[in-house]
Amino acid sequence: MMQQQQQRLYLLVLVAMHFAVVVGDDDFSRNDFPASFVFGSGSSAYQVEGAAFEDGRTPSIWDTFSHAGAYNGANGDIACDAYHKYKEDVQLMVDTGLEAYRFSISWSRLIPNGRGPVNPKGLQYYNSLINELVSHGIQPHVTLCHDDVPQVLEDEYGGWLSEKIINDFIAYADICFKEFGDRVLHWTTVNEANVFALGGYDLGFTPPGRCSPHVGIGPCSRGNSSTEPYIVAHNMLLTHSSVFRLYKRKYKSTQHGFVGLNIFAYRFIPHTNATADEGATLRAYAFYLGWFISPLIFGDYPVTMKDRVGSRMPTFTRQESEQVKGAIDFIGLNHYATLHVKDRPSAFERDYRDFSTDAAIQLVFEQGGVTPKGEYPWTQPGLRAVLEYFKKTYGNLPIYIHENGQTTPRNATLNDTGRVEYLHAYIRNLLDAMRNGSNVRGYFSWSFLDGLELLDGYKSAYGLYYVDLDDKNLTRYPKLSQQWYSNFLKGKSRKSNVNLEIGKEVSHSSESEFSS
Ligand SMILES: *[C@@H]1O[C@H](CO)[C@@H](O)[C@H](O)[C@H]1NC(C)=O
Ligand SMILES: *[C@@H]1O[C@H](CO)[C@@H](O)[C@H](O)[C@H]1NC(C)=O
Ligand SMILES: *[C@@H]1O[C@H](CO)[C@@H](O)[C@H](O)[C@H]1NC(C)=O
Ligand SMILES: *[C@@H]1O[C@H](CO)[C@@H](O)[C@H](O)[C@H]1NC(C)=O
Ligand SMILES: *[C@@H]1O[C@H](CO)[C@@H](O)[C@H](O)[C@H]1NC(C)=O
Ligand SMILES: *[C@@H]1O[C@H](CO)[C@@H](O)[C@H](O)[C@H]1NC(C)=O
Repeated sequence: MMQQQQQRLYLLVLVAMHFAVVVGDDDFSRNDFPASFVFGSGSSAYQVEGAAFEDGRTPSIWDTFSHAGAYNGANGDIACDAYHKYKEDVQLMVDTGLEAYRFSISWSRLIPNGRGPVNPKGLQYYNSLINELVSHGIQPHVTLCHDDVPQVLEDEYGGWLSEKIINDFIAYADICFKEFGDRVLHWTTVNEANVFALGGYDLGFTPPGRCSPHVGIGPCSRGNSSTEPYIVAHNMLLTHSSVFRLYKRKYKSTQHGFVGLNIFAYRFIPHTNATADEGATLRAYAFYLGWFISPLIFGDYPVTMKDRVGSRMPTFTRQESEQVKGAIDFIGLNHYATLHVKDRPSAFERDYRDFSTDAAIQLVFEQGGVTPKGEYPWTQPGLRAVLEYFKKTYGNLPIYIHENGQTTPRNATLNDTGRVEYLHAYIRNLLDAMRNGSNVRGYFSWSFLDGLELLDGYKSAYGLYYVDLDDKNLTRYPKLSQQWYSNFLKGKSRKSNVNLEIGKEVSHSSESEFSS
């Protein structure tokens, strides 16, 4: 007890507030974007809902992953308790001025056996949340699968490794469209499809944590990094396109909504001007983005991937190719940072092949000079470059920026100037892209609340609101970034100096819950 107290004290940061900060001289505002454009913020089910064992929910692969120790004991059992606090949270969204909220449905809360009967309590929760949003004029943008496949389906047939998931996912999506589609217009089948395939099956650092013994960051007890990421991606594309076709056939004419897929997108730039690094940069785009986008636009994987991956690359039948091609109303992009790309020809000569050696590239992250350690650089935002790449390579299909935001240590101050700088720079960069013709329809900051993060549990945070995990009420505290974003959304930041005041006193000691 004593030790705990001391630890608490040690970690305790009293952030004395009531200060004014000048954030101003913005030469743009929300009104520079089209009225039909939406600005929001986001979350996902496992990261904020909590109530993991309540009202009939069963575990997902993310529950299993965190309970196996991925985050040193942290998990989403309670998280931000958004399951119970959704009304309060929607009120905070109203206060902030959000026009849209991106969240995901927990498949295993809605259909606890993965297939079959719908859980009435799960249905009631999502209906209540959607109604609460809609009644406040906030558009719901819904993701169907955000890393959280029902564990029961993982156990039965290996989840995304099996084609069996296609029919179960279609049935799940059908229920969501039928039950919620009268109020939800924007549907995303899978979040960060590429990261899920790589993190989950090549390097093993995200659920379900599979990789070959000597490849992953692991440690993985099972998996095959050589083959599984490609199989999983293939099944995702077949699933996504089936769900897209289902919506078109059965719901589009009455509900008038849209179905998209979400991809994680770095901006890649050559490490040097050497031709080899420039070629490697094109390969990086082909492997990370083309892997999913090429089939959706052109009906097949990029040639460079097929050549390099060879017989391990699954193939589309003619019929599948036709099904996948064009099966997209919009692309959701999650973008955070720029990476430098180096050619790595030696990788290709290795006996053991996985995604990274197939691509024969090395990715290098360069921390900008002015950026505090542990935060993303913001002085040279790469969002516009990614959007220009999309426009040039895949035609100008509609895009939603589904995630973009700054990371800080969770116990950092509410005076999150680095997050303000980041959001400001990236939204400005987005505006430049749109003025040059990019077909972007919306922007969602990641994240609304400080939730459980995919990579490190509760160590890092992205939220506009800090959530005090040591307080039984899980009280939410607005950060400076919440006030900046709110002012921006309310059209107040154009050429004006804004006085921002930050909340009350708050103790940050939540690290202590997990550190002993
Ligand atoms: C935040 O937590 C980290 C890791 O536990 C610790 O090293 C650091 O000192 C903490 N920072 C503050 C401001 O408490
Ligand atoms: C907030 O942080 C900025 C930059 O670190 C600093 O200039 C400012 O004084 C801080 N505000 C308060 C009230 O501590
Ligand atoms: C991965 O699968 C391939 C193809 O089935 C096989 O040749 C290889 O030995 C497997 N590797 C591992 C590490 O299991
Ligand atoms: C590449 O060339 C451009 C223009 O020729 C130059 O501005 C840039 O500094 C060069 N980059 C590197 C990494 O050498
Ligand atoms: C602006 O768009 C045009 C046409 O798509 C493109 O050629 C040009 O490179 C873009 N400008 C920048 C700075 O990316
Ligand atoms: C927690 O919430 C309850 C009910 O709203 C309230 O009475 C209590 O003061 C709150 N406690 C804290 C520490 O905020």
